[in-house]
Amino acid sequence: MQLANRLNDIAESITLAVTAKANALKKAGVDVVSFGAGEPDFDTPQFIKDVAIKALQAGKTKYEPTPGTVEARKAIAEKLSRENGLSYAPEQIIVSVGGKHALYVAFMAVLNPGDEVIIPAPYWVSYPEMVKLAGGVPVIVRGDPANNFRITPRQIQAAITPKTRMVIINSPSNPGGHTYAPAELAELAQVIAPHKDVWVCSDEIYEKLLYGDQKTTSWAAIDWNTWKDRTITCNCLSKTFAMTGWRIGYTAGPKVLVDAMNKLQSQMTSNITSFCMPAIAEAYTNPQSAGEIEKMRSAFEKRGLHMWQRLNAIPGVTCVKPTGAFYTFPSIAAHLNKPLGAKGTVATEAVAFCTAVLEEAHVALVPGNDFGFPDHVRLSFATSMENIDKGLDQLEKFLK
Ligand SMILES: Cc1ncc(COP(=O)(O)O)c(C=O)c1O
Repeated sequence: MQLANRLNDIAESITLAVTAKANALKKAGVDVVSFGAGEPDFDTPQFIKDVAIKALQAGKTKYEPTPGTVEARKAIAEKLSRENGLSYAPEQIIVSVGGKHALYVAFMAVLNPGDEVIIPAPYWVSYPEMVKLAGGVPVIVRGDPANNFRITPRQIQAAITPKTRMVIINSPSNPGGHTYAPAELAELAQVIAPHKDVWVCSDEIYEKLLYGDQKTTSWAAIDWNTWKDRTITCNCLSKTFAMTGWRIGYTAGPKVLVDAMNKLQSQMTSNITSFCMPAIAEAYTNPQSAGEIEKMRSAFEKRGLHMWQRLNAIPGVTCVKPTGAFYTFPSIAAHLNKPLGAKGTVATEAVAFCTAVLEEAHVALVPGNDFGFPDHVRLSFATSMENIDKGLDQLEKFLK
């Protein structure tokens, strides 16, 4: 039987092969320390769970409006105004099945075949593949590790062509753990602003996970008048509230965009799970939320700093200090093309490197290939301090 041609353009995630190997080792009884998690190791706060349980028990089990209930969209609009300085009306918001679905529906709504999308690297794995699925052409702009992976206005300027339809900005970023300060975003905005047909998709899902004195801003807040009609503001509850499994994401933007997304989503998924809907207003209005977020943020900050210091102390490993999200993304370039560990395996890129580390040191790292950096690896610090020390002890021993 025949399958669709569109599959030919979509890359299989090479990360999955390493994950599958790690799972097989664990199943065979090997004590693998995993740095793979892309989600908080905390549980969803109880008060958020309670409203969903109550809604389920009260029979909130039927279809809801495709873009989300009025209460949910109102709570998001108020959150965006209060915390981000953005004035979207509830009709300018659509709730989708996680941040991933929100971004995908947005890309489907704005991209035509051949439209170019500028994606700073290192990038979240799904951006290029989702752009391709929507008919677009990813244009990768490589951030320099010496500049904390941040791309420069000059690089954006050089990448823009008459075919450019969108620029993706992700601050704080997965996997780089880097963040753009408001002034740096404003400099990028100056270069993009004259290109009036170019959207900016601002993926703000790690907005609450900032470390040290790092600040950032919502893209549209840089200059609301310039950007309100050209910004696709994406966010979700997944990382901020430890709700990755709930699948709640949303997009805010001009009404014409949100209406188009609504049209698409009504033929795809309709509304998100009905009894999850009240959790949105609860998360954004319960006074306990700030304390819960801070509890997680401050734990991540301590772990991230510790992991970064330890990584940089390993010979041949160099790591940019994380200023946001919960990832470190060190270079392992100095360990490529030379014998590794007791077996003397020679790795030419990160997948082979991670396979050797997994098999010999029993530490699961994520190769940077899927993020556009095949000589880097990603480690998540959404895991306990004990795990961080144990895993890095093993990695250090292996690399020495
Ligand atoms: C940068 C980035 N955007 C979007 C997503 C998707 O978020 P969600 O789990 O809500 O679909 C992720 C998930 O890891 C991410 O890292």
